Amino acid sequence: MKIAISGKGGVGKTTIMALIAEQLKRDGNEVLIIDADPSPHMAQTIGVKDPGAIVPIAEMKTLLQERSGKTEGSPFYNINPQVDDLLSRYMVEDNGLKLMVLGAIEGGNKGCACAESTVLKRMLTKLLLSPTQFALLDMEAGVEHLGRGTIAGVDHLLTVVIPAKSSIRTALKVKKLAEEVGIKSVNFVGNKVIDKEDEEFLTEGLGVKPIAFFPDNPAISKAERKGQPVIGQLDAVQDQVKGLLKALL
Ligand SMILES: Nc1ncnc2c1ncn2[C@@H]1O[C@H](COP(=O)(O)OP(=O)(O)O)[C@@H](O)[C@H]1O
Ligand SMILES: [Mg+2]
Repeated sequence: MKIAISGKGGVGKTTIMALIAEQLKRDGNEVLIIDADPSPHMAQTIGVKDPGAIVPIAEMKTLLQERSGKTEGSPFYNINPQVDDLLSRYMVEDNGLKLMVLGAIEGGNKGCACAESTVLKRMLTKLLLSPTQFALLDMEAGVEHLGRGTIAGVDHLLTVVIPAKSSIRTALKVKKLAEEVGIKSVNFVGNKVIDKEDEEFLTEGLGVKPIAFFPDNPAISKAERKGQPVIGQLDAVQDQVKGLLKALL
């Protein structure tokens, strides 16, 4: 199962993905997280002991160029770059979770992450998973990857949304784009929800009820501030995480 997450910056994508990862692990599954945010933060969020030691795939320029098949001056890409070995070579494992960091988009093509996008797309489409293997993709806002069809190969897209009009607007835009690229399962997840009124505001604004509502929990933001892994807070929101997974699977 491949699950991607999107939503406006700061809504809680990385937090919720980390909690999902931990729950899936506790349920006995094998979990690979792919951090595709240009300012990656998943390693800290899941408590990888030495995040500085992780080599982001984006830093391996030559390798990326080879894998995406882009040759100097040519706008075309190979149809089938090999990516299998990337998974085993550039993965770290800690706390029973596997993590791969895609890394930052840099200079050159002025913000075009074409090579990274192509590699990620291949990885997502070529990755064959058994029912107990999960690939979780954490991204930035996600609109960019959706626009390029990078994540068209995922089974589920979760769109995190907080009770704010701007967040709802982004979520609706994400849903539309996701459906356009053919992602069959697109669901909203409410986060930083304080009361019933917040839940109703979200349901009304989105036109459909989110599959889970996560409470605004100071223990979560405090853990982040102290640099503590958020997965230590799973017990506080385990019902929500389990409910989300049940709705999804
Ligand atoms: N349910 C929640 N309750 C309290 N704080 C939260 C919650 N979810 C996320 N946060 C906090 O919000 C901030 C942004 O979360 P993060 O997961 O990094 O967002 P994103 O990945 O969408 O940019 C972090 O400080 C995080 O601890
Ligand atoms: Mg994030």
